Amino acid sequence: MTNHFVARAPGRVNLIGDHTDYTGGLVLPMTIDRWTVIEGSRSGGAIALTSADEPHPVGIALPVDNPSTVEPHWGRYVAGVAAELGATTMPIRGHVTTTIPVGAGLSSSAALEVAAALALGFEGTAADLAQLARRAEHRASGVPCGIMDQLCIAAGVADHALLIDCRTLEIEAVPVPHNVDVIVQFVAHRTLAGSEYAQRVAECQRAEQLIGPLRLATLADVAIIGDPIVQRRARHVVSENQRVRDFAVALRANDLATAGRLMIESHHSLRDNYETSTPAVNEAVRQMCATPGVYGARITGGGFGGCIVALAAPGSTTTGWVVRAVDGAAIDRT
Ligand code: GLA
Repeated sequence: MTNHFVARAPGRVNLIGDHTDYTGGLVLPMTIDRWTVIEGSRSGGAIALTSADEPHPVGIALPVDNPSTVEPHWGRYVAGVAAELGATTMPIRGHVTTTIPVGAGLSSSAALEVAAALALGFEGTAADLAQLARRAEHRASGVPCGIMDQLCIAAGVADHALLIDCRTLEIEAVPVPHNVDVIVQFVAHRTLAGSEYAQRVAECQRAEQLIGPLRLATLADVAIIGDPIVQRRARHVVSENQRVRDFAVALRANDLATAGRLMIESHHSLRDNYETSTPAVNEAVRQMCATPGVYGARITGGGFGGCIVALAAPGSTTTGWVVRAVDGAAIDRT
């Protein structure tokens, strides 16, 4: 028995249900077959990590005080996790590699947080792991993200998407049909820090002050909101929650035409009501949807750039890459 470990966490793509998690709504993401891996050993009194993709190593003294000031920048996610683990943080020495494109909206930061939590000694349920990693993200980047990314990564099930109720954290694994390709296409780099993400969270809070929890609201409730911007944001959230329910039913019934139509409606709502898409992303979705064999496509994740996701008949398109859902994060110790 040595102290050697390999911690790995996959990225995720969201099939439908964006900007619903932070109001306790519904989401339907799946893990993808790309991973962040931390390999190392428990040693020393601090955290010492190198990265295959970053020029500068990370050295973090324990206990961690303020993760948001750690340099280089990628170390903040690890420091955020160490700060959340507190006295239970294990000192480690290790190396980080990743096949998840960074800054592409595929949750590379959440994967790093979840892998780091396992490497630094976290023990507990997937839900606890996700909540710890989410708090770490808040501390590291200041982005008031929801629970979707970290929970999908922690709880992923091979060949399944996860229908998550972001209020109760209840998860239903929904099989991804064998006769469909899930395609991810990269459009543009983006960062949620400094984007309008936090503003959208605040706009939803404003809507909830007026009509109560958005997860329980109807479109009739939304119609009484006077501020047109807040009303549009709420309309997106309320209609998106319903689309997630309908999409899960369609996927289970292998009704890919309906699933694709719902994805397109989701994209239009994110473009027009929620205003988190961009002209380049809209054009990529338009082109993808015009490709024979494609059932539907949409922007995925936080938005303001990033990737699009599509459902297509197998082999329909070579634009983007076909992803497969894999099991969630894990650690091997030897
Ligand atoms: C980012 C956040 C998630 C979620 C999505 C939008 O990925 O980290 O919590 O809010 O944006 O659905």
